[in-house]
Amino acid sequence: MAWKGVLSEWASWLPITERTPRLTLHEGGTPLVHARRLSAAWNVELYLKVEGANPTGSFKDRGMVLAVAKAVEDGARTVICASTGNTAASAAAYAARAGVEAVVVIPEGKIARGKLAQAVAHGARVIAVRGNFDEALTLVRTLAESDRVALVNSVNPYRLEGQKTAALEVAADLGRPPDELFLPVGNAGNISAYWMGFSALRAAGGAQDIPRLHGVQAEGAAPMVTGRPVEHPETVATAIRIGNPASWRKAEAAIAGSGGSIQAVSDAAILEAYHEVAEREGVFCEPASAASLAGLKAHLHKGLVRPGARVVAVLTGHGLKDPDTASGAVAVETLDADLETLRRAIGLVPA
Ligand code: F0G
Repeated sequence: MAWKGVLSEWASWLPITERTPRLTLHEGGTPLVHARRLSAAWNVELYLKVEGANPTGSFKDRGMVLAVAKAVEDGARTVICASTGNTAASAAAYAARAGVEAVVVIPEGKIARGKLAQAVAHGARVIAVRGNFDEALTLVRTLAESDRVALVNSVNPYRLEGQKTAALEVAADLGRPPDELFLPVGNAGNISAYWMGFSALRAAGGAQDIPRLHGVQAEGAAPMVTGRPVEHPETVATAIRIGNPASWRKAEAAIAGSGGSIQAVSDAAILEAYHEVAEREGVFCEPASAASLAGLKAHLHKGLVRPGARVVAVLTGHGLKDPDTASGAVAVETLDADLETLRRAIGLVPA
């Protein structure tokens, strides 16, 4: 059987050698779903890049497979990361797969329950610190400089190399890059990776156009919008609850180079988009991911996206990651286990 996954599908685009372990959980190759109803409602041609379909349910797997493979190639026995949750889940899974130890450092009380469950299930050493993500990242970066552990946060260049494959897939699926691409920004690695991917494609003589890259932050955690670090970031979208992005400068270059933008959206707008895409398109993403759609809607309101434009919204993580946000919103009706009661309740006979 041919082996699948990012390292196999995109080998020639990645810094791998014969000595790089062929690590895979069949990550990448995620669906680009045409959003028919939202396209009609918003008068654009909208596609959803469903990154929640990756093995651990987020885009992190694309970069993690390469970062862990390279760490193993270099003889590492332990990988470490700070995380708002998804990086932790991905590091834990790929470390388990590769047979090395994972240590994940998370902000206490501020990561979605599904992500914590994943890190625990894969046997990672999970450490919660009394502090936020930015403080956790400073700790692990310092540790990795002096101690024998491999840092697998997106400051590790292999992470962005792997993540750029999402841009290559989008261009391949559409036949060319889209006009606009919206995505949530936390630590600002992913927007930088999309820029790398589309730029690499152009350099290889493929499509010449690079989509305008639009980053979206949450209002309470929008350092790139205000222009200065946020000491106490807050948002319902815990994945992007970050006050001082490590790839800030890279992301600015991506935005300027592509003619894109950076904006902030409210938690209310994030949750509205989160419900809308789940109810109208059948695609369930986590709150942070819906920031991309909230940002698109804000741009449409301001007339900043031309009618009929080809737009991709990157839905970075699966909705099941955060069961508390999902189930907090619904009213479950409880009935007696009786056929007539059920018929009346769903309107098949008059109440
Ligand atoms: N969406 C989701 C679901 C994320 O988990 C993250 C980042 C982002 C968007 C933002 O991507 O940081 O590259 O700008 N999560 C990291 C983590 C920080 O630790 O899992 P970014």
